[in-house]
Amino acid sequence: MNQNISSRDDYEEHYTLSTTEPEKYWAQIAKSYDWKKEPQKIIQGDFNDLEIKWFEDGQLNITYNCLDRHLEKRGNKTAVMWEGNSPDDEHLSYTYNELHREVCRFANVLKDQGIKKWDRVVFYMSMVPELLTGVLACARIGAVHSVVFGGFSAQALAGRIQDCEAKLVVTNDEAYRGAKTIGLKEITDEALKSCTTVDKVLVRKRTHASHVNYDSTRDLDLLELLSQADDQCEPEWMNAEDPLFILYTSGSTGTPKGLLHTTGGYMVWAGQTFKNVFQMEEDDIYWCTADIGWITGHSYIAYGPLINGASSVIFEGIPTYPDAGRFWEIVEKYKITHFYTAPTAIRALQACDLKFVKDHDLSSLKVLGSVGEPINEEAWQWYHKEIGNEKCPIVDTWWQTETGGFMISPMAGITECIPSYATYPQPGILPQLVDNEGVQLEDKTAEGNLCITQPWPGMARTIWGNHERYRQTYFTTYPGKYFTGDGAKRDEKSRYRITGRVDDVMNISGHRIGTAEVEEAINEHPFVVESAVVGYPHDIKGQGIYAYINLNEGAEIELDKLKTEINEFIIKVIGPIAKPDQVQIVSGLPKTRSGKIMRRILRKVASKDVSNLGDISTLLNPEVVDEIKKGAGL
Ligand code: PRX
Repeated sequence: MNQNISSRDDYEEHYTLSTTEPEKYWAQIAKSYDWKKEPQKIIQGDFNDLEIKWFEDGQLNITYNCLDRHLEKRGNKTAVMWEGNSPDDEHLSYTYNELHREVCRFANVLKDQGIKKWDRVVFYMSMVPELLTGVLACARIGAVHSVVFGGFSAQALAGRIQDCEAKLVVTNDEAYRGAKTIGLKEITDEALKSCTTVDKVLVRKRTHASHVNYDSTRDLDLLELLSQADDQCEPEWMNAEDPLFILYTSGSTGTPKGLLHTTGGYMVWAGQTFKNVFQMEEDDIYWCTADIGWITGHSYIAYGPLINGASSVIFEGIPTYPDAGRFWEIVEKYKITHFYTAPTAIRALQACDLKFVKDHDLSSLKVLGSVGEPINEEAWQWYHKEIGNEKCPIVDTWWQTETGGFMISPMAGITECIPSYATYPQPGILPQLVDNEGVQLEDKTAEGNLCITQPWPGMARTIWGNHERYRQTYFTTYPGKYFTGDGAKRDEKSRYRITGRVDDVMNISGHRIGTAEVEEAINEHPFVVESAVVGYPHDIKGQGIYAYINLNEGAEIELDKLKTEINEFIIKVIGPIAKPDQVQIVSGLPKTRSGKIMRRILRKVASKDVSNLGDISTLLNPEVVDEIKKGAGL
């Protein structure tokens, strides 16, 4: 078997071997990586025992694979180019040699602060280079990183810090985000009031604002410490199943879950999937527009490209600042060949004047990618025509925080790309569609709930501190299978099309938000008795948030005032990304006789599709349905 997949036949060969003889397949694939001790045990555990281990007796350091092993051949090759929020910002660039030194420096700073193997470090930063070098520095010394997206609130940040019992937080004084600045340090200070485990805060000054407060016993200037640190640091050799990072994500119930990814399997998965799907050549330039605060940034800004020795751009800003041509200006400036973004950004830019695209030379582009939510056909066609000049394959990559890396996706130039289809599974992935009773849909063309039936190297191993919740969340709906929470269709050529979440998780601009979390925040308002939140189709965001709110009897408040106050609660509890787009006041919520809210009806009303509401006679309060329809103007 050829280690690289460079033809359709290679794909078939890899896929067949990976599913019929997984031990043999992964033992061979593992040889493309550098191990301190090569693994002999390849796969252990299954979806019943949930004691899943990959490459268990292997020893490695993932940063050795991202950095050290490239130094001989690619030491002077560009690893990362940094583009700041404003086009006028200083441009920074790091070769593999330089990035290696920066990561070592940061690793030594962490060590000096007493951070050891397995300690947790939380990053709450904008996309400055130190976010990248910081997570790699943790991995260098065996500390566990947990990055919290800079749009989350103090309360959300505190919850994550407490849950993983972080010892140290790394933040910015302030972050630039388009024309705005966000007071990350101030939010961190607020969060830390309720956290007892954090000893030190490293502050990477970005705006140097004088109004930012510093606590001389706790806060340290990161850039100053880095400038004094030694630039060599031996990697800590980790066991393959040692933790690498925790990343929090929303589910249908409860507080966000800290998914734990481990070292060896994740490295192989990030490395393989990046290589196979993007098919980059040595001189290509890659740009993923995500934030490192999400899984996309972990696997396909930080680890995947570096494991493969690629040159990438990382970007601090937003697509529309200073104007809607910014993405295309960056593509032209760096001669990007591989461009990877989210459908919500594509739709937002598609809605702008085409001149913003036409003003730029995009002829360097070879491959386009899409991630985070289903891409609608119109956006796909625009991306293909206006950005890709009809010559670039679009890899529509379906995967999740839980999966660590791509699960179903075309491989550029190798398997076909068709609008709205993620197409074929990656080697090692066995998808299965089941009906609501869990019965496998065996017909070639089918539509159902998407499950995966065998473990793969990159899967999250547990929910930090709560293995039982991990079992309950993913493996009990359809026993013995991993349930993704997504629905999918399969066509006559066995290609998969993801239709979206079938559980109570919303996907707002590609951000995953649980309905329960938003409801909890709304319910904090003293006038609110109860609320129900659903997603509905939104032209730009993919899904918007629609909130139905039942107020206390006698509560007198104008809708606009209520909306403003509700938003304040949501910004406080979660962050601005979870603000509802629509709020409707109702006198009750449709409930089953057992008291469960019938979200199906609420979803239909929110999407203005009430032609078939199904049987409502079993509701406890069927009369409320007409009122809700009327209130929505239907
Ligand atoms: O519903 C699917 C959607 O995003 C969910 C995972 O969200 P998160 O864990 O935040 O990871 C996002 C980045 C991988 C999935 O359950 N999703 C992700 N990619 C696609 C997608 N839906 C359709 N097509 C995709 N390509």
